[in-house]
Amino acid sequence: MTKIVAVAAVGQNGVIGLNGRLPWPAQDGEIPLFQEVTLGGALIVGARTIASLPKRLDLGDRRLWTWYGYKEGHEGPIALIERVARCDPGRTIFICGGGATYAAFAKYTNELIITRVNYSGPGDKWFPWAEFAALRAQSAGASRT
Ligand SMILES: NC(=O)c1ccc[n+]([C@@H]2O[C@H](COP(=O)([O-])OP(=O)(O)OC[C@H]3O[C@@H](n4cnc5c(N)ncnc54)[C@H](OP(=O)(O)O)[C@@H]3O)[C@@H](O)[C@H]2O)c1
Repeated sequence: MTKIVAVAAVGQNGVIGLNGRLPWPAQDGEIPLFQEVTLGGALIVGARTIASLPKRLDLGDRRLWTWYGYKEGHEGPIALIERVARCDPGRTIFICGGGATYAAFAKYTNELIITRVNYSGPGDKWFPWAEFAALRAQSAGASRT
């Protein structure tokens, strides 16, 4: 079974985005950690986040897949996961945001990697904790046994 991991950097108030970008300047260690964690993976990234990334992004050996939201003519989360697994067999799938993308893929995610950022300023996108409630409860249960 393909492993699916959501990776996010989250401010103290749950904020993940502002005006289509990260709300905070790139933190020391944040990008290297992301690079290390996602090495060799297939990254699913929302179209709005992709639009905010530099045009010449060095992905290394990662593969990039775009999530266009729930629109007619575009595949839903399960179909996209199946296509990625078929085209990139053996690669872990990383759900890399933004907010709409985390929410859409939350129930198919096996693992959550959150980097807490010391930021309490404004934002217009939040991490959808509620959608990950089942996974978090499962992890809490697992750590008690
Ligand atoms: N802190 C973190 O770890 C992290 C990680 C990734 C992203 N972010 C931040 O999250 C925010 C973006 O999240 P988001 O929920 O707005 O979107 P998103 O999850 O990146 O993208 C999904 C949405 O893209 C839109 N879309 C579809 N086609 C598009 C196109 N051709 N061009 C542009 N957008 C298109 C759709 O929105 P409609 O429903 O409007 O059609 C779809 O639901 C940004 O501020 C980004 O910096 C933070």
